[in-house]
Amino acid sequence: MAHIGPKDGPVAVTGAAGFIGAHIVKNLVEHGYEVRACVRDATNQPNTAHLRLMNSAGPGSVSLHTCDMTIPGAYDTAFEGCVGIFHAAAEMGNLEGSTPMKVYEGGLIATQMLMDSIKKAGSVKRLVYTSSFAAVGHPSPDGPYTEDSWADMNQDKRPDGARWSMETVKKNREVAYAMTKVESERYVYAEADAAGFEAFGVCPCHVIGPLLARTHQRPWAWQTRIGDMLEGYGHPRMFWNIVDVRDVAEAQRLIAECPDNSNGQRYNLVATDESGLIPQSEVQAHLQKLFPGKGIAGNYREGELRRGPVAVLEKCITQLGLKPHSPVQSIMDNAYSLLAWELVQMRDGQDNWQRDGNDLGIQSKWSPHLYPAIDPEVRQKLEAEGKG
Ligand SMILES: NC(=O)c1ccc[n+]([C@@H]2O[C@H](COP(=O)([O-])OP(=O)(O)OC[C@H]3O[C@@H](n4cnc5c(N)ncnc54)[C@H](OP(=O)(O)O)[C@@H]3O)[C@@H](O)[C@H]2O)c1
Repeated sequence: MAHIGPKDGPVAVTGAAGFIGAHIVKNLVEHGYEVRACVRDATNQPNTAHLRLMNSAGPGSVSLHTCDMTIPGAYDTAFEGCVGIFHAAAEMGNLEGSTPMKVYEGGLIATQMLMDSIKKAGSVKRLVYTSSFAAVGHPSPDGPYTEDSWADMNQDKRPDGARWSMETVKKNREVAYAMTKVESERYVYAEADAAGFEAFGVCPCHVIGPLLARTHQRPWAWQTRIGDMLEGYGHPRMFWNIVDVRDVAEAQRLIAECPDNSNGQRYNLVATDESGLIPQSEVQAHLQKLFPGKGIAGNYREGELRRGPVAVLEKCITQLGLKPHSPVQSIMDNAYSLLAWELVQMRDGQDNWQRDGNDLGIQSKWSPHLYPAIDPEVRQKLEAEGKG
């Protein structure tokens, strides 16, 4: 058994400055680990100061390391002597200059290089890889899904333009993301097996909860969409499968410390029960209860809604003993943190929110501009038409 604990040696977290990564670092530090926080630029204070702050909270410690995962060997030094690696860095497609192909490469290719650094270190016992629910349920309409569900099943059910191939990857971010997560997961399990250590996958769905830094208000991130609702910006209909960011982080530590799991096991990080499997109108209702009389947005337009993805948290509770937050707590803490960071402003008047037929000129922070990782050909066309 190769499970780890805080006394076994240092651990490293990639994507440590990000929403999930920062919560992983916080959780590990709170449990006494010596954490090497790998960020793209350790001199970027606004994006990393929240990690330095954790250092004084202890009882563990944090050191910052600049590592760009697109550069071979970037993690060699940071991983030296580490017993555990938590890989949460990813190219999500929401960064300036992003393309579907960069999303794909920021998954599989970056993970392959990261595995090379792990093998060079020779000290790593466990890797916990943050995959995604996109690697589980994407995009077959059926559920419920379990950890045995893989998104590359049922290829024949996919519509034209969404079948998995490198040609589709170049044009379609959703396919690029799901495909790179599936391939990265399979890659790390096979390589870990061959190299004699253990790798695990974590597959979260809609992650929300408290922002630890102002920089966590990132476009096309669920925690930011809650902010849009607070500001009164209505969105297209959506069915949420809510998981708390603190539970995603706690589960990762528990996976690394668990004596009863082994290489290749995956964990869906999803709603505990029906209370977290809710349409956007119910998220709106929760926020309205919290902030009575404010213009909290819901659906931009009414209409039919597909119920899914349906999956519930089970393995993390039964095997790891995870005690998840309730969705109401997650929504509430997400909202309060946005207010505390002064990242959102609410409007008076319960009906005072933007939707079809009620344009109030509110700008979205979730989708402030054209999504970066769209098909490059489509972008060229839109730009030529002045819509870019
Ligand atoms: N949030 C969700 O709902 C959700 C759901 C399912 C799966 N996930 C997965 O969870 C992981 C973390 O996501 P998140 O929500 O925490 O996103 P995030 O806040 O955007 O964090 C992603 C991190 O990746 C880092 N990164 C990007 N490009 C990099 C590069 N070239 N070199 C080094 N680091 C780089 C970013 O660094 P900078 O801070 O310097 O930009 C950022 O800290 C990802 O693998 C994502 O696919 C998230």
